[in-house]
Amino acid sequence: MGTEIRDLKARIVFNSRGEKAFEADVIVDGFVGRACAPAGASTGAAEAVAFPPSGPEGALQAFKEYSRKLVGFKSDDIVGLAELFHQIDQTPNFCKIGGAAVFAITVASVDAASKALGVPMFKLIGGEKEYGHPFPLGNVLGGGKHAGPGSPDIQEFLSLPVGAKRVYDAIYANILVHKEVRKLIEKKDPSFSGGKGDEGAWAPNLNDLEALEIVYEAVNNVSDKLGFKVKMGIDFASSSLYNPETKSYEYSRRGVKFSRSEQINFVLSIIDKYSPAYIEDPLFEDDFEGFSILTRESKRTYIVGDDLFVTNTNRLLEGVKIGAGNGVILKVNQVGPLGDALNFAKTAKANKYVVTVSHRSGESVDFHLAHIALGVSGEIMKSGVVGGERIAKLNELIRIDEFYGPFKMINLSW
Ligand code: PGA
Repeated sequence: MGTEIRDLKARIVFNSRGEKAFEADVIVDGFVGRACAPAGASTGAAEAVAFPPSGPEGALQAFKEYSRKLVGFKSDDIVGLAELFHQIDQTPNFCKIGGAAVFAITVASVDAASKALGVPMFKLIGGEKEYGHPFPLGNVLGGGKHAGPGSPDIQEFLSLPVGAKRVYDAIYANILVHKEVRKLIEKKDPSFSGGKGDEGAWAPNLNDLEALEIVYEAVNNVSDKLGFKVKMGIDFASSSLYNPETKSYEYSRRGVKFSRSEQINFVLSIIDKYSPAYIEDPLFEDDFEGFSILTRESKRTYIVGDDLFVTNTNRLLEGVKIGAGNGVILKVNQVGPLGDALNFAKTAKANKYVVTVSHRSGESVDFHLAHIALGVSGEIMKSGVVGGERIAKLNELIRIDEFYGPFKMINLSW
């Protein structure tokens, strides 16, 4: 069965936040690969732009003009497709044709090739090697840009089942933590309405310190119940807290402003008290040096750059030079083509950075994230806990385990 692209289609659909989203079909010898681009809320300044200035409709118009160039191209040539898109757009951030289209077409292509060849997508991405499941990282309580006023300033309090031996148990552990968090919120605030943020995390009327206590108690309760360790993770999404004019981190709910060194001390005090396994974006997106200080000071916690690196290999190499962070977030649509994201993962691995393959806050029910996480040997897959668009990725890991496994959890020291 050939993998040449015979035809392509594209349309605007809607994501989990009700925003316009670019979806592409790639047709290969009677098989259709399909992918829909996700969208961020707390986006990094150096990300690929989702749409050209003329918006989603402009992206569709551009698609009509360039899509014939892809016909005849091999749908499983991930690197070649990335190069082709760079030639077509010729801007570093895909501002002519839009990064959303580039994401959707390059992922749909591999999806089509996978169907045509009868080879699972993760193997087309990762080749023949020993596979291990990523640890699922799930948002259980949140605030910031993903929730309304009154919720915590910190964007995400997460659950990471570091002691799980099977992926099913790991996913179930996060679900139990999510339920436990609700119980503990209701104990503290009987008027809690059950409101959730964009990623399905509870969005209570609590400040950061109260939220930390609740999530810490929840992960410990679930650890005791299941007999393996579940740890906390935190995504500060600090670029959203940082005010460049005052050069301070503004926690408006608590009414405090932190200088850079106060922010670092705040993060270190949280590490000391709650020993989280994972901290994402503790400083704003251009503070490579601050990341480096924090990485040196915190031994047992992964310091992960999202807005800092934006899945961009050059930014990562800048960080590697000074030891900024020891973990990266990989969000394919931050960079555009799947091929560029795979190159980023390779560079991260070569420099011993832990790779977290992540969803976006605005998502579709696509399951491809699970295949990308396995394909790049990502140690962590960040994809929420509940909600159809979050669970779609987690359930795919369970199916993969049944059809192609069983796989152990990937090797990672905590
Ligand atoms: P986003 O963040 O809003 O940029 O997609 C999502 C996340 O980091 O979980």
